[in-house]
Amino acid sequence: MDAVDDADQLPETAKNDVTSFFESAPPLKDAAETEKSLKEFVDRNASLSVNGKANRVVCVTSGGTTVPLEKRCVRYIDNFASGHRGAASTEYFLMAGYSVIFLYRRGTCQPFCSLLPDDPLLECLSVADDSTIEADPLHAETVKRAITETRAAVADGILLKLPFTTIFEYLQILQLISASLRGLGPSAIFYLAAAVSDFYVPWESMTLHKIQSASGPLDMRLAQVPKMLSVLRNEWAPMAFYISFKLETDKDILLAKADMALKKYKMHMVIANELSTRKEEVIVVTEQEKVTVRRDSTQAGAEVECPLVELVVDRHSAYIKKVDP
Ligand code: PMT
Repeated sequence: MDAVDDADQLPETAKNDVTSFFESAPPLKDAAETEKSLKEFVDRNASLSVNGKANRVVCVTSGGTTVPLEKRCVRYIDNFASGHRGAASTEYFLMAGYSVIFLYRRGTCQPFCSLLPDDPLLECLSVADDSTIEADPLHAETVKRAITETRAAVADGILLKLPFTTIFEYLQILQLISASLRGLGPSAIFYLAAAVSDFYVPWESMTLHKIQSASGPLDMRLAQVPKMLSVLRNEWAPMAFYISFKLETDKDILLAKADMALKKYKMHMVIANELSTRKEEVIVVTEQEKVTVRRDSTQAGAEVECPLVELVVDRHSAYIKKVDP
């Protein structure tokens, strides 16, 4: 399955849903700044091209989006995701030579930080004397790696970290990313591991102040978030390589749902995972195959993202060869 053709264009109603979502969303803070960083990042990677082919770039989305219930938000609906999948995958993509745009939920797992304890500030640092703070020897190596690897990747222009909290921010930044990656054609991957809200309160119908409990039970109608996979794949960056994720808690419906997503949204790969086993194994579903990818349980600290990213890189290479020989 290659780039989409005219017959695959989005129906008018889907386009209208997307337009009205963006028109009614609150303006993205720092949009100009984000666009500027994206442009610099992509230009730099385009200039690193080898044999006329752009350097490969992957957009990894990570963590869950929130849906605010009030404009001056006190309460919100959240989506489950620790961000581990996205953060670990980012590390393996960097090792494989890709540059990574890491679109992550504020406060979730970060690349190179998975071995840090839950409260790194208090658990990794100690006060040596009045003016010196040093890393606790127990965690010194982990802290050193987290800092040096992250700073080096950012300074070398191969890692760009963009945070989001709400569904509005997530989709607006994703749109900016797709506009900047469009020119890279098949060299770009979208690896959509974020857990994205399916329902939201439209900004114009949202109350300004904190909802009062004295008014009795809360009766609220949520609108459906347009499935952005369609618009991303069909309109925003149609030549890119697409990987979406499917999470279920009932393994009996998992593969059928993944197959459906593959066909409906014309993904190149859908990665199916079940909540309780998601760190042990995933099933990669494509048009041609279903491959179970497992963590190497004989190796301490081995992660399922290692063989998973290896497989993605292999299939992405085959895709580039096919559409841009
Ligand atoms: O972060 P961890 O704790 O490590 O967990 C990782 C994970 C389990 C969250 C991850 O592996 C995963 O499965 N992510 C997708 C979760 C999910 O079920 O998403 P979904 O069924 O709501 O959406 C499926 C796909 O559609 C996703 O790729 C999403 O980016 C996309 N989507 C969803 C809603 C929407 N309105 N538009 C979209 O494009």
